[in-house]
Amino acid sequence: MSPVITCIEDLRQLARRRVPRMFYDYADAGSWTESTYRANEADLAAIKLRQRVAVDLTQRSTAATMIGTPVAMPVALAPTGLTGMQHADGEMLAARAAEAFGVPFTLSTMSICSIEDVRSVTTQPFWFQLYVMKDRAFIEALIDRAKAARCGALVLTLDLQILGQRHKDLKNGLSSPPKPTLTNLLDLATKPRWCLGMLGTKRRQFGNIVGHAKGVDSLTSLSEWTHAQFDPALNWGDVEWIKKRWGGKLIIKGILDEEDARLAVASGADALIVSNHGGRQLDGAESSIAVLPRIVAAVGSQIEVHFDGGIRSGQDVLKAWALGARGTYIGRAFLYGLGALGEAGVTKCLEIIQRELDLTMAFCGRRKLSEVDASVLVPHTLPR
Ligand SMILES: Cc1cc2nc3c(=O)[nH]c(=O)nc-3n(C[C@H](O)[C@H](O)[C@H](O)COP(=O)(O)O)c2cc1C
Repeated sequence: MSPVITCIEDLRQLARRRVPRMFYDYADAGSWTESTYRANEADLAAIKLRQRVAVDLTQRSTAATMIGTPVAMPVALAPTGLTGMQHADGEMLAARAAEAFGVPFTLSTMSICSIEDVRSVTTQPFWFQLYVMKDRAFIEALIDRAKAARCGALVLTLDLQILGQRHKDLKNGLSSPPKPTLTNLLDLATKPRWCLGMLGTKRRQFGNIVGHAKGVDSLTSLSEWTHAQFDPALNWGDVEWIKKRWGGKLIIKGILDEEDARLAVASGADALIVSNHGGRQLDGAESSIAVLPRIVAAVGSQIEVHFDGGIRSGQDVLKAWALGARGTYIGRAFLYGLGALGEAGVTKCLEIIQRELDLTMAFCGRRKLSEVDASVLVPHTLPR
């Protein structure tokens, strides 16, 4: 009998049983000691809510807009690399689930399914996340491909010009597809659904890169290329030419400092995302929710401030909104849904979060998000 799924933790546990260890670990890990990864969730949990009673709670709505796009709730799917390894054709399935639900899907540069693959299964514009590589001709072509696919926003990630070390990935020998070592084969033998799915698709490598970047045609050349390609020289000057070439809505991802937030405003971006990359880059950085109020105070009147890091429930979304975020992103929450149950799991994840958001808002005596501000939170429990 299939288990009754009532919360994101149920999806996580099911995903852990169904997804090969190296890809489950890739998702459920932070860098070095994982202190920032843990703090993202713990600091959100520490914020307490103020219950109100005897308020008319008819006609409630979780609807909002993110960079002018109407959304069923202010929750987008975050860009995540290797999503097509959590489940066969994972990016296409997640994009379809997001579109049907009415929230944005963001495709990572490091996806398995390509921009064109995702375009082929969607009718509304999805968002595209860009990593800047040294091969500028490749980046220009990638931007042009996102334009040709009518992507609705370019999400430019600035916090990964060098890679944080995640111990588990090194220990597991992470690669896509997995190498046929004894450990991997034994693990795959216990994941028959995943294997069947993978046998049924041809998408098993980085779809945006293979066949598009010069000299990348085998798995070895691909992994060498990606490691050598992230550009450590990336700076705000590059943001300018990227913005110009793209010409559409631009979201800057990976801001944790007020000074950088001001530079993001000066760059002319439409939004910035307060993010520590899910605790996967600088271990020892503050949790995203601890930083959010300071960034909102510094630039919230000049740019739309978005937020990610540690969201595992609709309550977390409400807390971020109450502290000034006008959009949030979920990474692991949707990946667990995908790994557990494919497209239906992503839908389940979104349903769970929306229901928790709606009920929590109502318990706090509010019917819509425009009525929610920091007054729904208990002051002495807020991050300082
Ligand atoms: C498995 C995984 C892969 C990720 N890959 C990318 C990526 O390719 N590009 C990017 O900008 N962020 C990437 N991120 C970071 C997410 O976009 C997001 O910032 C983070 O997951 C938010 O934290 P949460 O997982 O606690 O929701 C990745 C995160 C995870 C968990």
